[in-house]
Amino acid sequence: MVYLLSERQGTFIRASIYDHCNFACQYCAADMGMENHTPTCLQAPLLNTEDYIRNMKWLAQHGFRIISFTGGEPLLNPDFARIAEGCRPFFETMEITTNGTKLLENIQAVKKYIDVLKISIDAYDKELAVRIAHNDMARNTMSVIEESCRDGIKKIGFNFVYMKQNEKELPKLIDYAGRLREKYGTDIYISILDLYYSRGNRAFWKEQFVDLSTVREQIERNGIQINRRLRVGCDSYNFICNGIVVNMKDSISCTHRAKICERCTEYCQEGIYSLKHSASGWLSVCPSNTLSLGTLLNGRTNEKEAHEMIDQYVTTINEIKRVDHTGMIFREKIDE
Ligand SMILES: C[S@@+](CC[C@H](N)C(=O)[O-])C[C@H]1O[C@@H](n2cnc3c(N)ncnc32)[C@H](O)[C@@H]1O
Repeated sequence: MVYLLSERQGTFIRASIYDHCNFACQYCAADMGMENHTPTCLQAPLLNTEDYIRNMKWLAQHGFRIISFTGGEPLLNPDFARIAEGCRPFFETMEITTNGTKLLENIQAVKKYIDVLKISIDAYDKELAVRIAHNDMARNTMSVIEESCRDGIKKIGFNFVYMKQNEKELPKLIDYAGRLREKYGTDIYISILDLYYSRGNRAFWKEQFVDLSTVREQIERNGIQINRRLRVGCDSYNFICNGIVVNMKDSISCTHRAKICERCTEYCQEGIYSLKHSASGWLSVCPSNTLSLGTLLNGRTNEKEAHEMIDQYVTTINEIKRVDHTGMIFREKIDE
């Protein structure tokens, strides 16, 4: 069996546990199944809960220590609590990224099994939040966050996708996080994500993308120190503002790439930073539904076959290399 090298063991599994979302965010790669990548031609049904947990156990045996539940919207899966309970023994850290709409009804399971709760919130202004999510429920995200703090959730990350239209919202969200921390003692941090491209959001990306190096320069001009964090994937930076840690991803200055990226016709913005497992068991290191870029680990796959399949992806992750300024190559490719 191929194991992750020790320096790669921080690579997480992006485990999609549901194939639908009740939001239709403007930026979302809905054409690719959001983060639930499965080639449509396979018509693969969703795995049942036992098979899903079994796949996670097999993946963990290769050295993955962190799992991050995603979707679609992961909390739309009625079996979320059983999945989280079943996966808990295999991972040191379990995270979830959610839009928050089903959070309060799942709060006990989240408290019991999840180490880091990440909530997507792209605006403090409720009307703007609703416009971005294309759903009126986005109006309630802040009250859901506050209720979760009151209920004793220990750590919450806000996921904020930085765009031209919501630039002014960031300081307001930092202040809001600071107020919650003071009131409830919750450890809150903010992750700024730069806008990722997919073919389906091309026009939107061109209109709204902001290169976060310009934002960093502006923050430094205001006398705030920015630190660089080296990790698998894109470079990341952080700074502290009003006692709140703010992380910033940067997919333009650096990504990690493998040999398979060299000839890739879909050369992506993010590069390789995780192993992705869809709700149907599609396994890939690429944010893609292309048949040749992944493998299906379904209910009929036996343990030996599964480990052989997983070996290929672990080998790829072990071989990835940091490449600087891949954002330029990526931009040239999308303009071709
Ligand atoms: C794909 S969503 C799935 C989980 C869940 N439905 C949610 O809204 O959090 C996971 C995260 O990816 C982020 N995301 C989605 N599309 C993105 C894009 N084009 N660029 C940057 N981040 C994106 C979302 O903001 C969210 O925080």
